Amino acid sequence: TFKPLVFSGVQPTGNLHLGNYLGAIRKFVALQEEHDCLFCVVDMHSITAQLVHEDLKGQTRSIAAAFIASGIDPAKHIVFNQSSVPGHAELAWVFNCVARIGWMNRMTQFKDKAGKDREKASLGLLAYPSLMAADILLYRATHVPVGDDQKQHLELARDIAQKFNNDFSSRISDAGLGIDMMVGEEKVSGYFPLIEPLIGGPAPRVMSLRDGTKKMSKSDPSDLSRINMTDDSDTIAKKIRKAKTDPAPLPDTLEELEGRPEAQNLLGIYAALSDRTRMDVLAEYAGRQFSEFKPALVELAVEVLAPITSEMTRLMDDPGHIDAILKDGSARANVLAEKTMSDVREIIGF
Ligand code: ADP
Ligand code: NA
Repeated sequence: TFKPLVFSGVQPTGNLHLGNYLGAIRKFVALQEEHDCLFCVVDMHSITAQLVHEDLKGQTRSIAAAFIASGIDPAKHIVFNQSSVPGHAELAWVFNCVARIGWMNRMTQFKDKAGKDREKASLGLLAYPSLMAADILLYRATHVPVGDDQKQHLELARDIAQKFNNDFSSRISDAGLGIDMMVGEEKVSGYFPLIEPLIGGPAPRVMSLRDGTKKMSKSDPSDLSRINMTDDSDTIAKKIRKAKTDPAPLPDTLEELEGRPEAQNLLGIYAALSDRTRMDVLAEYAGRQFSEFKPALVELAVEVLAPITSEMTRLMDDPGHIDAILKDGSARANVLAEKTMSDVREIIGF
């Protein structure tokens, strides 16, 4: 079977927010204790929706700084940027030929990002999930910590791996490159692992502070809708104070939170930030008003984010140091990628 290996990526576009932190980066930090990991700044993804960017290099550095400031150890794990490893693009091309257009057309993120006039979206935006599958499978990674919004893309990556394994099954076994794995109860052999998403936790999808039915996002026009990882304490306090809530107090049970998306969201954020379950937090705050809960949430958010922000600022003062970390990570990633690509070229018959 495959050796467990963790891969995840974050785009270098716009400010990192609390959704990125709780949905992804905080999980990376926990996973690095037990697993080998690759953490990638996916700069090639960032040109799918918008082609021209002001300062892609600076944005890339700031994501790497956020990883490291949050506690990722770039000496033990691989921190790098996607465009510096050519295997991502090469494998994505192969996967473009494995995947079917119908699979891509069904992706809800594509529908959201492409908007009304889909014919005007870039071909890269449509093929985004194919590049994402390549990001992960280039390292034959087995586990992918992401937010809940990426679930559909990971299922598609699994479908791509499975179709590649099936279509090339005899070549894979002739070349002696097959690895046994379990699919449900059945033992099968293939070249690419079937990825396990690592999604869960108390806030798998952090919602907007202004509308509990929309996810917190970099692209939301309202800055009050999200807490940015670089917000100072006063800004965090203001945004939480202004967060939309309802007049009812916190209830005794999770069931009673049904139909109260804003209340659910703030509870989930509190639980995730404090590494507790939502039940456990409710046991402490049941019957209390949001006027009491919000200041506690502000205190907790500042306590978690302030040290990360100051460390990010310190790291960003020395761009050369971050570039050296990325360069070292890319060199190590390239070694792994080149091994996979040489197998893939043999399997295809190039
Ligand atoms: P964004 O979605 O803000 O453009 P990315 O696509 O770069 O950011 O996502 C980086 C990571 O952050 C992914 O693992 C994604 O699932 C996670 N993520 C993004 N938004 C949220 C959110 N609102 N709640 C939980 N996780 C999120
Ligand atoms: Na996303």
